[in-house]
Amino acid sequence: IAMARQMASSAATLEELREQLAAFDGCNLKFTAKNLVFADGNPAAPIMFVGEAPGREEDLEGVPFIGRSGQLLDRMFAAIGLDRTSVYIANTIPWRPPGNRTPTPLEAEICRPFFERQIELANPRLLVALGGPAAKALTNATEGILRLRGNWKAHLTTSGIQIPVMPTLHPAYLLRNPAQKRFAWRDFVNVKIRLRALTD
Ligand code: URA
Repeated sequence: IAMARQMASSAATLEELREQLAAFDGCNLKFTAKNLVFADGNPAAPIMFVGEAPGREEDLEGVPFIGRSGQLLDRMFAAIGLDRTSVYIANTIPWRPPGNRTPTPLEAEICRPFFERQIELANPRLLVALGGPAAKALTNATEGILRLRGNWKAHLTTSGIQIPVMPTLHPAYLLRNPAQKRFAWRDFVNVKIRLRALTD
């Protein structure tokens, strides 16, 4: 973890951070994953979406949210006038856990300095946490996502800047529970309004 901190903080750009992650051997997930899944979209975008960890398709291509969940996420972006040129997308953990198992607390802790640095360097004006694990990582909140969703929280960056975070339901959850899409829709409209207020 000390090494992760040192490597993450030494990266001055997102490109350097990606290189540092590619060179980092301290997380066992790297050795079962096919690819590093660092980010997609526009790092200069005012809004950053965060998932938990890559799945099978993401691991094969090295790009976050390109499987079934990602296709739904793209439609959710489109519904509020966004696409992958106007958002930045990453995960709390950049390697696929074997068989999509939940990352262990140790794995999450080891990857955390890189994830924190990624937010700091992308410096988005707004964050959207997709699902409980991302919401927990960004806000330290302990309630479940069904309670957290829809309410703005703050993410405190390593450098002490507060970034508003909207926790919402994960697209994979929405695929399993389509009746819940109405809640995600509300959250996305809320995000759109706040984003407009920032960029108008
Ligand atoms: N689910 C996630 O949380 N992240 C991805 O990149 C893909 C699916």
